Amino acid sequence: MSAGLQIRGLSKSFGGLAVAREINFDLAPGDRKALIGPNGAGKSTFANLLTGALTPSAGEIRLDGRDIGRLGEAARVKAGIAKTFQITTLFQDLTVRENILLPVLERRGAALRMFRRADADAQANAEVEALMAQFKLNPFAEVRVGDLAYGQQRLVEMTVALALKPRILILDEPAAGVPTGENHLITDAIAALPADLSVLIIEHDMALVFKVARAIVVLVAGAILVEGAPREIAANPRVRDLYLGSRHG
Ligand SMILES: Nc1ncnc2c1ncn2[C@@H]1O[C@H](COP(=O)(O)OP(=O)(O)OP(=O)(O)O)[C@@H](O)[C@H]1O
Ligand SMILES: [Mg+2]
Repeated sequence: MSAGLQIRGLSKSFGGLAVAREINFDLAPGDRKALIGPNGAGKSTFANLLTGALTPSAGEIRLDGRDIGRLGEAARVKAGIAKTFQITTLFQDLTVRENILLPVLERRGAALRMFRRADADAQANAEVEALMAQFKLNPFAEVRVGDLAYGQQRLVEMTVALALKPRILILDEPAAGVPTGENHLITDAIAALPADLSVLIIEHDMALVFKVARAIVVLVAGAILVEGAPREIAANPRVRDLYLGSRHG
């Protein structure tokens, strides 16, 4: 039995449309892998198969040897799989602190009615402080999330996912909508993630991908075209033709 995520023969069809085709994929503790590919290649579908938002048509998903492929979303979060969303899902009217406290309380099994109470679990509050410090969010603790710059909002999303103490973290387009000038917030945050966490990054921004990924998987029409080190992927003629070439001339 090996540690981390092992995916074998994973397939998914919507009616006649095959959007995941016999995908074999491993993610070990400490991995920093990027999943890239053209629009509609099936990247988000793959992520949703991992979180349980979608049920596979065929194939296996194992976490530390355990088959989790039929578990629902809540059970997979408990098993250690967390994902940020391509579209922001924070509570815009709550503060940064409150947005991070919610998943901490949830994980700790505290009732949500504890929320906003002055005595709401000192340990939970300490955990929220530590998470905000990790992502340099302390100065914004009492700011409404809706009033934050978009890049900062994406950081809060990552923090919310991390508050679940996952083993596997899936970031679906963490830099989407983030102005270029704020991109360093995202790369710094990824660099600050726990060393033993397995991280899968789905991203179109190639500069970001090449900064943070130690391995890249290229998905085309639901199938893995190639997987390799960033240098190999950048030099691969099929990747250049099919994907990078069309973007970077
Ligand atoms: N629920 C669904 N029902 C039917 N077809 C779907 C569904 N979800 C996705 N698809 C189709 O599956 C294919 C893959 O979509 P997916 O969103 O996974 O691509 P993607 O690689 O994440 O694209 P993008 O880079 O634009 O985010 C697309 O053709 C899409 O239209
Ligand atoms: Mg997508």
